[in-house]
Amino acid sequence: MAPAIELIDITKRFPGVLANDGVNLRVDAGEIHAIVGENGAGKSTLMKILYGMQNADEGVMKVRGEVVHFRSPSDAIEAGIGMVHQHFMLAENLSVLENVILGSEPTKSLGRIDFGAARAHLAEVAAAYGLTVDADDLVESLEVGERQRVEIIKVLYRGANILILDEPTAVLVPQEVEELHRNLRELKSQGTTIIVINHKLLEVLEIADAITVLRQGRTVARVDDPSTVTAGDLAELMVGSELPSPDTTESTVTDVVALSIEHLTVLDDARPVVDDVSIVVHRGEIVGIAGVEGNGQAELIDAIIGTAEPAAGTISLADADITRWSVRNRREAGVGYVPQDRHEEGLLLSAPLWENAALGHQTRRPYSRGMWIDRAGAHARTDEIRRDFDVKSPSADVSAHALSGGNQQKLIVGREMEAQPKVLVAAHPTRGIDVGAQAAVWQSIRDARAAGLATLLVSADLDELIGLSDVIVVMLRGRLVARLDPATVTPRDLGSYMTGAALAQGQR
Ligand SMILES: Nc1ncnc2c1ncn2[C@@H]1O[C@H](COP(=O)(O)OP(=O)(O)O)[C@@H](O)[C@H]1O
Ligand SMILES: [Mg+2]
Repeated sequence: MAPAIELIDITKRFPGVLANDGVNLRVDAGEIHAIVGENGAGKSTLMKILYGMQNADEGVMKVRGEVVHFRSPSDAIEAGIGMVHQHFMLAENLSVLENVILGSEPTKSLGRIDFGAARAHLAEVAAAYGLTVDADDLVESLEVGERQRVEIIKVLYRGANILILDEPTAVLVPQEVEELHRNLRELKSQGTTIIVINHKLLEVLEIADAITVLRQGRTVARVDDPSTVTAGDLAELMVGSELPSPDTTESTVTDVVALSIEHLTVLDDARPVVDDVSIVVHRGEIVGIAGVEGNGQAELIDAIIGTAEPAAGTISLADADITRWSVRNRREAGVGYVPQDRHEEGLLLSAPLWENAALGHQTRRPYSRGMWIDRAGAHARTDEIRRDFDVKSPSADVSAHALSGGNQQKLIVGREMEAQPKVLVAAHPTRGIDVGAQAAVWQSIRDARAAGLATLLVSADLDELIGLSDVIVVMLRGRLVARLDPATVTPRDLGSYMTGAALAQGQR
Protein backbone atom coordinates (compact mmCIF):
# COMPACT_ATOMS: atom_id res chain seq x y z
CA MET A 1 0.00 0.00 0.00
CA ALA A 2 1.25 3.51 -0.79
CA PRO A 3 2.25 5.54 2.27
CA ALA A 4 -0.47 7.85 3.59
CA ILE A 5 1.87 10.81 3.23
CA GLU A 6 5.15 11.36 1.45
CA LEU A 7 6.86 14.72 1.58
CA ILE A 8 9.92 14.80 -0.64
CA ASP A 9 12.64 17.47 -0.46
CA ILE A 10 10.34 20.16 0.91
CA THR A 11 11.98 23.57 1.13
CA LYS A 12 10.36 26.66 2.59
CA ARG A 13 12.05 30.02 2.95
CA PHE A 14 10.89 32.94 5.03
CA PRO A 15 12.70 36.28 4.88
CA GLY A 16 16.04 35.49 6.48
CA VAL A 17 15.03 31.99 7.61
CA LEU A 18 15.25 28.62 5.91
CA ALA A 19 12.40 26.98 7.81
CA ASN A 20 12.44 23.70 5.85
CA ASP A 21 15.58 22.71 4.01
CA GLY A 22 14.88 19.67 1.83
CA VAL A 23 12.77 17.86 4.42
CA ASN A 24 11.65 14.29 3.82
CA LEU A 25 8.81 12.63 5.67
CA ARG A 26 7.08 9.32 5.10
CA VAL A 27 4.02 8.39 7.12
CA ASP A 28 2.58 4.92 6.59
CA ALA A 29 -1.16 4.38 6.53
CA GLY A 30 -2.65 3.64 9.93
CA GLU A 31 0.40 4.55 12.00
CA ILE A 32 0.94 7.12 14.72
CA HIS A 33 3.92 9.07 13.48
CA ALA A 34 5.67 11.51 15.80
CA ILE A 35 7.68 14.49 14.58
CA VAL A 36 10.17 15.74 17.12
CA GLY A 37 12.62 18.61 17.03
CA GLU A 38 13.65 21.68 18.96
CA ASN A 39 11.78 24.94 18.77
CA GLY A 40 12.30 26.46 15.37
CA ALA A 41 13.26 23.13 13.77
CA GLY A 42 10.51 23.62 11.19
CA LYS A 43 7.87 21.15 12.41
CA SER A 44 4.86 23.45 12.35
CA THR A 45 5.90 24.90 9.00
CA LEU A 46 6.08 21.43 7.47
CA MET A 47 2.63 20.57 8.79
CA LYS A 48 1.16 23.87 7.60
CA ILE A 49 2.48 23.05 4.14
CA LEU A 50 0.92 19.61 4.28
CA TYR A 51 -2.35 21.20 5.41
CA GLY A 52 -2.35 23.74 2.58
CA MET A 53 -1.91 26.76 4.83
CA GLN A 54 1.46 27.58 3.33
CA ASN A 55 3.09 26.84 0.00
CA ALA A 56 6.42 25.08 -0.23
CA ASP A 57 9.03 26.80 -2.38
CA GLU A 58 10.30 23.42 -3.56
CA GLY A 59 9.44 19.77 -3.17
CA VAL A 60 6.74 17.24 -3.86
CA MET A 61 3.83 16.11 -1.71
CA LYS A 62 2.08 12.81 -2.19
CA VAL A 63 -1.08 11.71 -0.41
CA ARG A 64 -1.84 7.98 -0.72
CA GLY A 65 0.62 7.80 -3.58
CA GLU A 66 -0.83 10.68 -5.60
CA VAL A 67 0.97 13.97 -6.13
CA VAL A 68 -1.07 16.84 -4.70
CA HIS A 69 -0.94 20.64 -4.91
CA PHE A 70 -2.90 22.20 -2.09
CA ARG A 71 -3.78 25.87 -2.45
CA SER A 72 -5.65 26.10 0.83
CA PRO A 73 -6.73 24.00 3.80
CA SER A 74 -9.99 23.23 2.03
CA ASP A 75 -8.01 21.32 -0.61
CA ALA A 76 -6.29 19.36 2.17
CA ILE A 77 -9.62 18.68 3.89
CA GLU A 78 -10.98 17.49 0.56
CA ALA A 79 -8.09 15.00 0.49
CA GLY A 80 -9.03 13.75 3.94
CA ILE A 81 -6.39 15.65 5.94
CA GLY A 82 -7.30 17.53 9.12
CA MET A 83 -5.18 19.58 11.51
CA VAL A 84 -5.54 20.52 15.17
CA HIS A 85 -3.40 23.57 15.83
CA GLN A 86 -1.08 24.36 18.69
CA HIS A 87 -3.45 27.04 19.94
CA PHE A 88 -7.07 26.08 19.77
CA MET A 89 -9.29 27.92 17.37
CA LEU A 90 -12.72 27.41 18.94
CA ALA A 91 -15.28 30.14 19.52
CA GLU A 92 -15.70 30.36 23.29
CA ASN A 93 -19.25 31.62 23.28
CA LEU A 94 -20.64 28.98 20.95
CA SER A 95 -21.75 25.45 21.79
CA VAL A 96 -19.80 22.32 20.93
CA LEU A 97 -22.22 21.57 18.09
CA GLU A 98 -21.99 25.09 16.67
CA ASN A 99 -18.19 24.96 16.80
CA VAL A 100 -18.01 21.57 15.14
CA ILE A 101 -20.20 22.55 12.21
CA LEU A 102 -18.81 26.09 11.83
CA GLY A 103 -17.72 26.38 8.22
CA SER A 104 -19.38 23.17 7.01
CA GLU A 105 -22.99 23.63 8.03
CA PRO A 106 -25.46 21.25 6.40
CA THR A 107 -28.25 23.39 5.02
CA LYS A 108 -31.93 22.87 4.47
CA SER A 109 -33.87 24.75 1.83
CA LEU A 110 -33.39 28.55 1.81
CA GLY A 111 -29.94 28.10 3.34
CA ARG A 112 -31.17 27.42 6.85
CA ILE A 113 -28.79 25.32 8.93
CA ASP A 114 -30.04 21.81 9.49
CA PHE A 115 -29.13 21.42 13.15
CA GLY A 116 -30.93 18.08 13.37
CA ALA A 117 -28.74 16.53 10.70
CA ALA A 118 -25.61 18.12 12.17
CA ARG A 119 -26.40 16.83 15.64
CA ALA A 120 -26.98 13.33 14.33
CA HIS A 121 -23.73 13.37 12.35
CA LEU A 122 -21.79 14.70 15.37
CA ALA A 123 -23.19 11.92 17.55
CA GLU A 124 -22.25 9.38 14.87
CA VAL A 125 -18.67 10.65 14.59
CA ALA A 126 -18.21 10.85 18.35
CA ALA A 127 -19.58 7.36 18.88
CA ALA A 128 -17.56 5.86 16.04
CA TYR A 129 -14.32 7.08 17.59
CA GLY A 130 -15.30 6.63 21.22
CA LEU A 131 -14.99 10.34 21.97
CA THR A 132 -17.45 11.75 24.45
CA VAL A 133 -18.70 15.33 24.22
CA ASP A 134 -21.96 17.06 25.05
CA ALA A 135 -23.14 18.83 21.89
CA ASP A 136 -24.88 21.59 23.87
CA ASP A 137 -22.10 22.55 26.26
CA LEU A 138 -20.68 26.01 25.73
CA VAL A 139 -17.02 25.78 24.80
CA GLU A 140 -16.13 28.37 27.46
CA SER A 141 -17.33 25.92 30.13
CA LEU A 142 -15.00 23.12 28.97
CA GLU A 143 -11.65 22.04 30.37
CA VAL A 144 -8.61 22.15 28.12
CA GLY A 145 -8.68 18.40 27.46
CA GLU A 146 -12.34 18.58 26.46
CA ARG A 147 -11.71 21.49 24.12
CA GLN A 148 -9.05 19.48 22.43
CA ARG A 149 -11.49 16.63 21.96
CA VAL A 150 -13.89 19.07 20.30
CA GLU A 151 -11.11 20.17 17.93
CA ILE A 152 -10.40 16.56 17.04
CA ILE A 153 -14.08 15.80 16.48
CA LYS A 154 -14.38 18.91 14.33
CA VAL A 155 -11.67 17.54 12.08
CA LEU A 156 -13.15 14.02 11.95
CA TYR A 157 -16.58 15.51 11.25
CA ARG A 158 -15.16 16.83 8.01
CA GLY A 159 -14.18 13.31 7.01
CA ALA A 160 -10.47 13.41 7.80
CA ASN A 161 -8.68 10.09 8.04
CA ILE A 162 -5.25 11.66 8.27
CA LEU A 163 -5.05 13.70 11.44
CA ILE A 164 -2.28 16.20 12.26
CA LEU A 165 -1.88 17.36 15.87
CA ASP A 166 0.62 20.16 16.59
CA GLU A 167 1.93 19.82 20.15
CA PRO A 168 -1.34 18.51 21.53
CA THR A 169 0.05 17.70 24.97
CA ALA A 170 1.68 21.08 25.61
CA VAL A 171 -1.50 22.33 27.26
CA LEU A 172 -2.52 19.12 29.01
CA VAL A 173 -1.97 17.80 32.51
CA PRO A 174 -0.68 14.21 32.83
CA GLN A 175 -4.12 12.65 33.30
CA GLU A 176 -5.35 14.43 30.17
CA VAL A 177 -2.32 13.22 28.23
CA GLU A 178 -3.22 9.66 29.12
CA GLU A 179 -6.75 10.23 27.92
CA LEU A 180 -5.53 11.80 24.66
CA HIS A 181 -3.27 8.83 24.08
CA ARG A 182 -6.16 6.44 24.65
CA ASN A 183 -8.21 8.41 22.14
CA LEU A 184 -5.40 8.40 19.58
CA ARG A 185 -4.97 4.65 19.92
CA GLU A 186 -8.70 4.21 19.42
CA LEU A 187 -8.59 6.41 16.30
CA LYS A 188 -5.69 4.37 15.00
CA SER A 189 -7.57 1.13 15.56
CA GLN A 190 -10.36 2.60 13.41
CA GLY A 191 -7.86 3.15 10.60
CA THR A 192 -6.96 6.82 11.08
CA THR A 193 -3.39 7.86 10.29
CA ILE A 194 -2.03 10.27 12.89
CA ILE A 195 0.86 12.70 12.77
CA VAL A 196 1.70 14.22 16.12
CA ILE A 197 4.28 16.89 16.92
CA ASN A 198 5.61 16.64 20.45
CA HIS A 199 8.71 17.78 22.36
CA LYS A 200 8.12 15.45 25.27
CA LEU A 201 10.17 12.48 24.33
CA LEU A 202 8.83 10.09 26.94
CA GLU A 203 5.32 10.74 25.65
CA VAL A 204 6.52 10.22 22.09
CA LEU A 205 8.08 6.89 22.99
CA GLU A 206 4.83 5.85 24.60
CA ILE A 207 2.60 6.56 21.63
CA ALA A 208 4.58 6.59 18.38
CA ASP A 209 4.89 3.75 15.86
CA ALA A 210 7.59 5.70 14.01
CA ILE A 211 9.45 8.95 14.63
CA THR A 212 10.97 11.58 12.37
CA VAL A 213 13.53 13.93 13.92
CA LEU A 214 13.99 17.42 12.48
CA ARG A 215 16.91 19.69 13.26
CA GLN A 216 17.35 23.16 11.83
CA GLY A 217 14.94 22.54 8.99
CA ARG A 218 16.37 19.16 7.97
CA THR A 219 15.37 15.56 8.52
CA VAL A 220 18.15 14.06 10.62
CA ALA A 221 16.61 10.66 11.38
CA ARG A 222 13.65 8.43 10.87
CA VAL A 223 13.17 5.86 13.64
CA ASP A 224 11.13 2.91 12.36
CA ASP A 225 11.13 1.05 15.65
CA PRO A 226 10.94 3.40 18.66
CA SER A 227 11.51 0.51 21.05
CA THR A 228 15.17 0.61 19.94
CA VAL A 229 15.82 4.19 21.11
CA THR A 230 15.79 6.05 24.43
CA ALA A 231 14.62 9.59 25.15
CA GLY A 232 18.28 10.48 25.53
CA ASP A 233 19.06 9.19 22.03
CA LEU A 234 16.24 11.28 20.58
CA ALA A 235 17.28 14.37 22.51
CA GLU A 236 20.79 14.11 21.14
CA LEU A 237 19.50 13.71 17.60
CA MET A 238 17.37 16.81 18.13
CA VAL A 239 20.12 19.09 19.37
CA GLY A 240 23.10 17.38 17.75
CA SER A 241 25.13 17.21 20.95
CA GLU A 242 24.97 15.95 24.49
CA LEU A 243 22.65 17.69 26.88
CA PRO A 244 23.16 18.67 30.48
CA SER A 245 21.02 16.48 32.72
CA PRO A 246 19.01 17.75 35.67
CA ASP A 247 21.22 15.87 38.14
CA THR A 248 21.58 17.57 41.47
CA THR A 249 24.70 19.63 41.82
CA GLU A 250 26.36 20.47 45.08
CA SER A 251 24.09 22.04 47.68
CA THR A 252 24.24 25.81 48.08
CA VAL A 253 21.64 25.96 50.85
CA THR A 254 22.40 28.54 53.57
CA ASP A 255 20.73 29.03 56.93
CA VAL A 256 19.45 32.48 56.03
CA VAL A 257 15.66 32.44 55.72
CA ALA A 258 14.47 34.16 52.52
CA LEU A 259 10.82 33.17 52.48
CA SER A 260 8.82 31.97 55.42
CA ILE A 261 5.24 30.80 55.22
CA GLU A 262 3.59 30.07 58.53
CA HIS A 263 0.27 28.34 59.10
CA LEU A 264 -1.14 29.66 55.86
CA THR A 265 -4.76 28.94 55.07
CA VAL A 266 -6.59 30.05 51.92
CA LEU A 267 -10.32 29.50 51.60
CA ASP A 268 -12.44 28.95 48.54
CA ASP A 269 -16.11 29.23 49.44
CA ALA A 270 -15.30 28.59 53.10
CA ARG A 271 -13.45 25.39 52.14
CA PRO A 272 -9.71 25.41 52.90
CA VAL A 273 -7.84 24.89 49.62
CA VAL A 274 -4.55 25.70 51.36
CA ASP A 275 -4.77 24.23 54.82
CA ASP A 276 -2.35 25.30 57.54
CA VAL A 277 0.75 25.19 55.34
CA SER A 278 4.18 26.12 56.68
CA ILE A 279 7.27 26.24 54.44
CA VAL A 280 10.67 27.86 54.85
CA VAL A 281 12.91 28.56 51.86
CA HIS A 282 16.50 29.58 52.59
CA ARG A 283 18.89 31.58 50.46
CA GLY A 284 20.46 29.23 47.92
CA GLU A 285 17.72 26.65 48.28
CA ILE A 286 15.14 25.18 45.91
CA VAL A 287 12.08 23.77 47.61
CA GLY A 288 10.03 21.62 45.25
CA ILE A 289 6.32 21.14 45.66
CA ALA A 290 4.92 17.92 44.25
CA GLY A 291 1.24 17.18 43.94
CA VAL A 292 -1.49 16.22 41.55
CA GLU A 293 -2.79 19.46 40.11
CA GLY A 294 -5.70 20.97 41.96
CA ASN A 295 -4.43 20.16 45.45
CA GLY A 296 -3.88 23.78 46.45
CA GLN A 297 -0.60 24.54 44.69
CA ALA A 298 -2.11 27.28 42.53
CA GLU A 299 -3.80 28.96 45.49
CA LEU A 300 -0.62 28.76 47.55
CA ILE A 301 1.23 30.56 44.77
CA ASP A 302 -1.53 33.16 44.47
CA ALA A 303 -1.23 33.89 48.18
CA ILE A 304 2.54 34.30 47.92
CA ILE A 305 2.50 36.61 44.94
CA GLY A 306 -0.46 38.53 46.34
CA THR A 307 -3.38 37.70 44.07
CA ALA A 308 -5.26 35.73 46.75
CA GLU A 309 -5.89 36.80 50.31
CA PRO A 310 -5.17 34.22 52.97
CA ALA A 311 -7.74 33.59 55.70
CA ALA A 312 -5.02 32.87 58.23
CA GLY A 313 -1.28 32.68 58.58
CA THR A 314 1.63 34.86 57.54
CA ILE A 315 4.04 35.20 54.64
CA SER A 316 7.40 36.83 55.31
CA LEU A 317 10.16 37.93 52.99
CA ALA A 318 13.32 37.85 55.09
CA ASP A 319 12.11 39.86 58.13
CA ALA A 320 9.24 41.71 56.47
CA ASP A 321 5.70 40.46 56.95
CA ILE A 322 4.28 40.81 53.42
CA THR A 323 0.98 39.00 54.05
CA ARG A 324 -1.09 42.10 53.24
CA TRP A 325 1.18 43.74 50.69
CA SER A 326 0.06 44.54 47.16
CA VAL A 327 1.32 42.48 44.24
CA ARG A 328 3.43 45.40 43.08
CA ASN A 329 5.05 45.96 46.46
CA ARG A 330 5.95 42.30 46.68
CA ARG A 331 7.45 42.35 43.20
CA GLU A 332 9.47 45.45 44.11
CA ALA A 333 10.66 43.81 47.30
CA GLY A 334 12.15 40.97 45.25
CA VAL A 335 9.52 38.33 44.58
CA GLY A 336 10.00 36.94 41.05
CA TYR A 337 7.29 34.93 39.40
CA VAL A 338 7.23 32.48 36.51
CA PRO A 339 3.53 31.78 36.03
CA GLN A 340 1.96 28.49 35.09
CA ASP A 341 0.31 29.79 31.94
CA ARG A 342 2.65 31.90 29.86
CA HIS A 343 -0.12 33.04 27.55
CA GLU A 344 -2.66 34.02 30.18
CA GLU A 345 -0.43 35.50 32.83
CA GLY A 346 3.12 35.64 31.54
CA LEU A 347 2.99 37.57 28.30
CA LEU A 348 1.08 40.08 26.23
CA LEU A 349 1.27 38.10 23.01
CA SER A 350 0.48 40.97 20.67
CA ALA A 351 2.92 43.37 22.34
CA PRO A 352 6.58 43.65 21.34
CA LEU A 353 9.25 41.77 23.25
CA TRP A 354 10.56 44.91 24.94
CA GLU A 355 7.16 45.61 26.47
CA ASN A 356 6.92 41.99 27.54
CA ALA A 357 10.34 42.23 29.12
CA ALA A 358 9.06 45.15 31.19
CA LEU A 359 5.87 43.41 32.26
CA GLY A 360 5.59 43.45 36.04
CA HIS A 361 8.77 45.53 36.29
CA GLN A 362 7.62 48.53 34.29
CA THR A 363 7.69 50.93 37.23
CA ARG A 364 11.39 50.44 37.77
CA ARG A 365 14.67 51.02 36.03
CA PRO A 366 15.73 50.33 33.40
CA TYR A 367 12.17 50.25 32.07
CA SER A 368 11.19 53.67 33.37
CA ARG A 369 12.65 56.86 34.71
CA GLY A 370 10.41 58.72 37.09
CA MET A 371 7.01 58.73 35.48
CA TRP A 372 8.26 58.02 31.99
CA ILE A 373 8.80 54.79 30.12
CA ASP A 374 12.44 54.56 29.16
CA ARG A 375 12.30 52.97 25.71
CA ALA A 376 16.02 52.94 25.24
CA GLY A 377 16.59 51.40 28.67
CA ALA A 378 13.90 48.80 28.06
CA HIS A 379 15.36 47.91 24.66
CA ALA A 380 18.85 47.54 26.08
CA ARG A 381 17.61 45.25 28.86
CA THR A 382 15.53 43.23 26.42
CA ASP A 383 18.59 42.71 24.24
CA GLU A 384 20.50 41.50 27.30
CA ILE A 385 17.76 39.01 28.09
CA ARG A 386 17.64 37.85 24.46
CA ARG A 387 21.39 37.28 24.52
CA ASP A 388 21.83 35.82 28.02
CA PHE A 389 18.83 33.52 27.84
CA ASP A 390 19.21 32.59 24.17
CA VAL A 391 15.75 33.88 23.19
CA LYS A 392 15.75 33.17 19.45
CA SER A 393 14.15 36.28 17.94
CA PRO A 394 15.02 38.75 15.17
CA SER A 395 14.68 41.89 17.34
CA ALA A 396 13.20 43.34 20.52
CA ASP A 397 10.42 44.87 18.42
CA VAL A 398 8.72 41.71 17.13
CA SER A 399 5.59 40.65 18.99
CA ALA A 400 5.73 37.80 21.50
CA HIS A 401 3.36 35.94 19.15
CA ALA A 402 6.21 35.44 16.72
CA LEU A 403 8.22 33.37 19.21
CA SER A 404 7.98 29.64 19.74
CA GLY A 405 6.79 28.41 23.14
CA GLY A 406 10.29 27.62 24.35
CA ASN A 407 11.59 31.04 23.41
CA GLN A 408 8.59 32.73 25.05
CA GLN A 409 9.37 30.82 28.22
CA LYS A 410 13.04 31.78 28.10
CA LEU A 411 11.96 35.42 27.76
CA ILE A 412 9.81 35.13 30.90
CA VAL A 413 12.50 33.37 32.90
CA GLY A 414 15.07 35.89 31.65
CA ARG A 415 12.84 38.82 32.59
CA GLU A 416 12.39 37.50 36.11
CA MET A 417 16.04 36.55 36.62
CA GLU A 418 17.49 39.82 35.30
CA ALA A 419 15.40 41.67 37.87
CA GLN A 420 17.53 39.82 40.46
CA PRO A 421 14.77 38.57 42.71
CA LYS A 422 15.43 37.35 46.24
CA VAL A 423 12.69 34.77 46.00
CA LEU A 424 11.47 33.08 42.84
CA VAL A 425 8.10 31.39 42.63
CA ALA A 426 8.18 29.14 39.57
CA ALA A 427 5.13 27.20 38.40
CA HIS A 428 5.79 24.49 35.82
CA PRO A 429 8.65 26.54 34.35
CA THR A 430 9.38 24.10 31.53
CA ARG A 431 5.93 22.79 30.69
CA GLY A 432 5.36 22.39 26.98
CA ILE A 433 8.81 23.47 25.89
CA ASP A 434 11.50 21.48 24.10
CA VAL A 435 14.50 19.84 25.67
CA GLY A 436 16.98 22.54 24.63
CA ALA A 437 14.91 25.34 26.18
CA GLN A 438 14.22 23.15 29.20
CA ALA A 439 17.93 22.64 29.80
CA ALA A 440 18.46 26.42 29.51
CA VAL A 441 15.72 27.17 32.05
CA TRP A 442 17.06 24.54 34.46
CA GLN A 443 20.55 25.95 34.15
CA SER A 444 19.41 29.50 34.87
CA ILE A 445 17.50 28.40 37.96
CA ARG A 446 20.55 26.46 39.14
CA ASP A 447 22.91 29.38 38.48
CA ALA A 448 20.61 31.71 40.40
CA ARG A 449 20.49 29.26 43.29
CA ALA A 450 24.27 29.27 43.46
CA ALA A 451 24.09 33.07 43.65
CA GLY A 452 21.71 32.87 46.63
CA LEU A 453 18.24 32.83 45.10
CA ALA A 454 15.52 31.10 47.13
CA THR A 455 13.15 29.22 44.84
CA LEU A 456 9.78 27.65 45.38
CA LEU A 457 9.27 25.28 42.46
CA VAL A 458 5.86 23.82 41.67
CA SER A 459 6.02 21.24 38.93
CA ALA A 460 4.14 18.28 37.54
CA ASP A 461 7.38 17.03 35.99
CA LEU A 462 8.71 14.70 38.67
CA ASP A 463 12.14 14.35 37.06
CA GLU A 464 12.44 18.13 37.09
CA LEU A 465 11.46 18.27 40.77
CA ILE A 466 13.90 15.54 41.72
CA GLY A 467 16.67 16.99 39.57
CA LEU A 468 16.44 20.58 40.78
CA SER A 469 15.12 20.55 44.33
CA ASP A 470 17.06 20.50 47.59
CA VAL A 471 13.97 19.20 49.33
CA ILE A 472 10.55 18.12 48.06
CA VAL A 473 7.30 18.57 49.93
CA VAL A 474 4.11 16.88 48.77
CA MET A 475 0.82 18.74 48.75
CA LEU A 476 -2.42 16.76 49.01
CA ARG A 477 -5.85 18.28 49.53
CA GLY A 478 -4.34 21.59 50.64
CA ARG A 479 -1.95 20.11 53.18
CA LEU A 480 1.71 19.28 53.19
CA VAL A 481 1.74 15.53 53.72
CA ALA A 482 5.38 14.57 53.22
CA ARG A 483 8.86 16.02 53.16
CA LEU A 484 11.26 13.99 51.03
CA ASP A 485 14.91 13.94 50.06
CA PRO A 486 15.33 14.19 46.27
CA ALA A 487 18.60 12.30 46.51
CA THR A 488 16.79 9.13 47.50
CA VAL A 489 13.16 9.49 46.41
CA THR A 490 11.96 7.94 43.12
CA PRO A 491 9.18 9.28 40.86
CA ARG A 492 7.18 6.21 41.84
CA ASP A 493 7.47 6.99 45.57
CA LEU A 494 6.46 10.56 44.86
CA GLY A 495 3.46 9.34 42.92
CA SER A 496 2.21 7.28 45.82
CA TYR A 497 2.52 10.24 48.21
CA MET A 498 0.79 12.47 45.68
CA THR A 499 -2.23 10.19 45.43
CA GLY A 500 -2.32 9.50 49.16
CA ALA A 501 -1.58 5.80 48.67
CA ALA A 502 1.60 5.97 50.74
CA LEU A 503 -0.26 7.61 53.61
CA ALA A 504 -3.10 5.12 53.56
CA GLN A 505 -0.51 2.36 53.75
CA GLY A 506 1.25 4.03 56.68
CA GLN A 507 -2.02 4.19 58.61
CA ARG A 508 -2.70 0.50 58.30
N1 LIG B 1 5.22 32.96 8.99
C1 LIG B 1 6.54 33.00 9.27
N2 LIG B 1 7.29 34.07 8.91
C2 LIG B 1 8.62 34.11 9.14
N3 LIG B 1 9.30 33.14 9.77
C3 LIG B 1 8.61 32.06 10.17
C4 LIG B 1 7.21 31.94 9.95
N4 LIG B 1 6.80 30.75 10.44
C5 LIG B 1 7.90 30.16 10.95
N5 LIG B 1 8.99 30.95 10.78
C6 LIG B 1 10.36 30.62 11.19
O1 LIG B 1 10.68 29.37 10.62
C7 LIG B 1 11.41 28.57 11.55
C8 LIG B 1 10.67 27.28 11.81
O2 LIG B 1 9.50 27.56 12.55
P1 LIG B 1 8.43 26.48 12.97
O3 LIG B 1 8.09 25.66 11.78
O4 LIG B 1 7.33 27.17 13.67
O5 LIG B 1 9.26 25.58 13.99
P2 LIG B 1 8.78 24.52 15.08
O6 LIG B 1 7.32 24.27 14.90
O7 LIG B 1 9.63 23.33 14.84
O8 LIG B 1 9.08 25.14 16.42
C9 LIG B 1 11.61 29.42 12.78
O9 LIG B 1 12.85 30.06 12.71
C10 LIG B 1 10.49 30.43 12.68
O10 LIG B 1 10.83 31.63 13.35
MG1 LIG C 1 5.71 24.58 16.22
